[in-house]
Amino acid sequence: MKWRFFLTLSALLVISGASSAVGAEQTPLQVSDCDKCHSSIVTDVAAHGGLHATAVTCLECHLEHPPEGTDAIPACSMCHAPAASAHYQVDNCVGCHNPHHPLAIDLAAASEVNPVCVSCHENEGAQLQEYPSLHTELSCTACHQEHGEYLSCLDCHGPHVEGQSYDDCFTCHKPHKPTVVRYPENSPVSYCSGCHEQATQDLAQNRTRHHDLKCAYCHKDQHKAIPTCETCHGKPHEKSMHNAFPDCLKCHVDPHALAK
Ligand code: HEC
Ligand code: HEC
Ligand code: HEC
Ligand code: HEC
Ligand code: HEC
Ligand code: HEC
Ligand code: HEC
Ligand code: HEC
Ligand code: HEC
Ligand code: HEC
Ligand code: HEC
Ligand code: HEC
Repeated sequence: MKWRFFLTLSALLVISGASSAVGAEQTPLQVSDCDKCHSSIVTDVAAHGGLHATAVTCLECHLEHPPEGTDAIPACSMCHAPAASAHYQVDNCVGCHNPHHPLAIDLAAASEVNPVCVSCHENEGAQLQEYPSLHTELSCTACHQEHGEYLSCLDCHGPHVEGQSYDDCFTCHKPHKPTVVRYPENSPVSYCSGCHEQATQDLAQNRTRHHDLKCAYCHKDQHKAIPTCETCHGKPHEKSMHNAFPDCLKCHVDPHALAK
């Protein structure tokens, strides 16, 4: 890369008001000079600049200096070409990144963050759109207050039954598509009992072998899935009997309060 050096000693002396040097031969401004007048910035960059302290110098960003140079502030796109990443196409880079300490990001101070997060985390953004829920309306930073961290569901919601843990929530819900409820076959009955008291009570009191089955064993995988008796039992009686009484529950009453 070839950098233009517009900075000169005369410019420097003009700003510092050293009139005696006006007309002296122009010497390019060095990186080591910045400390003389911008010492706090030099200290800040050295301590927190990250790759902006090690991969570039002050002068590679600040190609000009006032009053001669009017273009002292570089555009980020000068080095982070928008074509190289979706992230380099978002608005207001300095709203999140102070160029002198680029990784100290105050997300709470940023305005609309979702498009920016999605510029790097395409999958999560796509999932929230594909499965619209009230979480889709939230800012990513409602839950991710610091980059890479997240709040627990229980910081914002109560459990369905007492004692349910954060890990339990994940058995059924995913944060970016919370309304799609899936669960494994061996999920405990207590997962369902808080919302389905009648079925839970009936099954608990029932003395047939259905009593020993978990809700999720019959209502497999997906919330609101309803099996038919035939899924598991086929047609166990005489053909003529099934023809005369096509509805199993005519005799067996209810799968949860099964009669034999
Ligand atoms: C002799 C003191 C002095 C030195 C040395 C000096 N500056 Fe400055 N700099 C100033 C002053 C004074 C201003 C404010 C000028 C203005 O606002 O017109 C300034 C302003 C700036 C600005 C802001 C320009 C803008 O448009 O807002 C940048 C960037 C800058 N300096 C970078 C540097 C860098 C990089 C170096 C080292 C290569 C450096 N300066 C060396 C005195 C200095
Ligand atoms: C990666 C590019 C980059 C590097 C490296 C960099 N700066 Fe800056 N600097 C900027 C940008 C961009 C701004 C304007 C920030 C804004 O608009 O808030 C800025 C602003 C400034 C300003 C004026 C505003 C202020 O904060 O007072 C000064 C002075 C300055 N830089 C000096 C320096 C010095 C000295 C160094 C080296 C120690 C340095 N910069 C390193 C990009 C850089
Ligand atoms: C003069 C070139 C230059 C300019 C201008 C510049 N950067 Fe950088 N920046 C770099 C280089 C080089 C790196 C390290 C390699 C890379 O990531 O491309 C870097 C790294 C970064 C990093 C990662 C820092 C780290 O320590 O991991 C961030 C964030 C960043 N730049 C943001 C910005 C923003 C925002 C702007 C505009 C305000 C900007 N840069 C302007 C050259 C520049
Ligand atoms: C809403 C806040 C936000 C805005 C606006 C933003 N960024 Fe970032 N940027 C981040 C976060 C968060 C990271 C990840 C930091 C980490 O990994 O710790 C990041 C990382 C980076 C990195 C280092 C990783 C990489 O992919 O190279 C660069 C460079 C960067 N941003 C440049 C930019 C530029 C250029 C702009 C403007 C076009 C910009 N950022 C706008 C939040 C933002
Ligand atoms: C410049 C790209 C970039 C931006 C912008 C960015 N991230 Fe990330 N993010 C990453 C990378 C790379 C990682 C994985 C590396 C790490 O752990 O730091 C990550 C990690 C994460 C993690 C933790 C992943 C895990 O497996 O633990 C979460 C959560 C996260 N980001 C959310 C966000 C949110 C919310 C935003 C917007 C405020 C955001 N990110 C902005 C690049 C980015
Ligand atoms: C309602 C809260 C909530 C919202 C809103 C939210 N997330 Fe998450 N996100 C989480 C939780 C909780 C996890 C942890 C998942 C885990 O541990 O498996 C997570 C995990 C992540 C991860 C890590 C990868 C993964 O899937 O485990 C990334 C990246 C991420 N979220 C990005 C985003 C982005 C981008 C947005 C906004 C478009 C967003 N999130 C909105 C709660 C949320
Ligand atoms: C930052 C707070 C926050 C966190 C953390 C959070 N949520 Fe939510 N969630 C909300 C808000 C706000 C709503 C909208 C309805 C309301 O006010 O309860 C909501 C709604 C929901 C809904 C109903 C969605 C709809 O469209 O009807 C479900 C299900 C849900 N959350 C599950 C979870 C789960 C599971 C977790 C953990 C992975 C979680 N939430 C984490 C704030 C949060
Ligand atoms: C059995 C699996 C299961 C577990 C475990 C589970 N949920 Fe749910 N959750 C559901 C179902 C089913 C709904 C209702 C969906 C509907 O109305 O269609 C729901 C609804 C919600 C709602 C929307 C408001 C409401 O009460 O209807 C929130 C919020 C929620 N769950 C949070 C949580 C949290 C927090 C946890 C962990 C403590 C959790 N869930 C654990 C299955 C589960
Ligand atoms: C957060 C409360 C909640 C939890 C937890 C919950 N459900 Fe539901 N469930 C509901 C709601 C609300 C409905 C809809 C009721 C209606 O439409 O009358 C429903 C409906 C059903 C239906 C009937 C669908 C239909 O078409 O009539 C079945 C079957 C069902 N749930 C099974 C389960 C099973 C099995 C579990 C545990 C793995 C469970 N539910 C956990 C709230 C919940
Ligand atoms: C042996 C299999 C089986 C078990 C175990 C089972 N169910 Fe059902 N459930 C069914 C069948 C079959 C139906 C449909 C009944 C019908 O067609 O009227 C049903 C219907 C339902 C319905 C909707 C109609 C109603 O009765 O409200 C809910 C809700 C429900 N079950 C919840 C549960 C819960 C909660 C559990 C665990 C406590 C559970 N089920 C255990 C087979 C089962
Ligand atoms: C997901 C599978 C499943 C579904 C659906 C199902 N059952 Fe069963 N049922 C079983 C299992 C397992 C047993 C225990 C005995 C066995 O292994 O056959 C059983 C036992 C029975 C028994 C004998 C009870 C005893 O104590 O000897 C009857 C009667 C019965 N089921 C009727 C029904 C009826 C009627 C329906 C529909 C409303 C139904 N079942 C739905 C799995 C199921
Ligand atoms: C006219 C009443 C009636 C109808 C209709 C009926 N059953 Fe039965 N079923 C019985 C009686 C009575 C028994 C207990 C006698 C026995 O063990 O053979 C029984 C027993 C069973 C058993 C337990 C068999 C065993 O080996 O323990 C199963 C399973 C069963 N029925 C499933 C079904 C299914 C599935 C349907 C619907 C397709 C159905 N029944 C329809 C009356 C009926």
